[in-house]
Amino acid sequence: MSFPPRFGTLQISPRALKPHVDRALAGLRLPPAPRVLDAGCGHGLWSAYLVRRLPRASFLGVDIDAACVSACAALGLGSRARFEVLDLHRLEKRGAFDLILCMNSIHYRGMEEVEILGRLARALAPAGRLLFVGPMATDLQPFPWERFRPRPDYDGYTVEGLREKARRAGLVEILARPVVGPLGTLAKGISRAVQGAPILKFLVYPFLYALLLLDALLPAQDRAYYLLGIFAPGGESR
Ligand SMILES: C[S@@+](CC[C@H](N)C(=O)[O-])C[C@H]1O[C@@H](n2cnc3c(N)ncnc32)[C@H](O)[C@@H]1O
Repeated sequence: MSFPPRFGTLQISPRALKPHVDRALAGLRLPPAPRVLDAGCGHGLWSAYLVRRLPRASFLGVDIDAACVSACAALGLGSRARFEVLDLHRLEKRGAFDLILCMNSIHYRGMEEVEILGRLARALAPAGRLLFVGPMATDLQPFPWERFRPRPDYDGYTVEGLREKARRAGLVEILARPVVGPLGTLAKGISRAVQGAPILKFLVYPFLYALLLLDALLPAQDRAYYLLGIFAPGGESR
């Protein structure tokens, strides 16, 4: 299954994450017609992917950025998917979703992660699951050529740090593990280096995809680019 043509074809991050997301989803027992929230949906990449993968699911994608929501609406994902402008700090749904995706959405400075995670916890149905992905703290700028880039506006996660935030938010950990190891990280670093050079980009991308394929075959790494977690509701703060 591929990403919709508009996204993903030249995006290394989602391609690197895809096998891990697929594996995580395959391990979940979702109801036949799951209700899915894409929290901080951005341009709708994961909603668009999962609309195909979960043919009876209904989707609500929310994002604080109205331009993102318009872009999602323009994807034409059909009546099963709708998108709304919403600040996740104001999410008020309760028990409404069987699956919540929180994909690289709440790690930015100034965001109240524990508060948002608490809102996501309360928005989950009792048997619902939160699929979380965020950047690891270890590899924010791992390559020499990245020293000249501005520091990202986030600090990234450690496994212990995410565990603690999730616990305080009333979530129960099912798994939390680093994903996308050194080869995937290298692919991402090279893709960033050639971002402004379209011809070079097309030339190196097959090589980068090969790196991603190899990376996905490696066992879980301690140092990795992303942290993937699956959480259930039901912790003490609910
Ligand atoms: C890095 S993008 C990830 C988008 C998408 N989840 C993906 O993986 O492609 C982060 C998204 O989170 C959204 N976001 C940031 N703060 C938010 C907030 N307080 N409430 C809702 N969305 C927010 C941004 O507008 C942006 O679209």
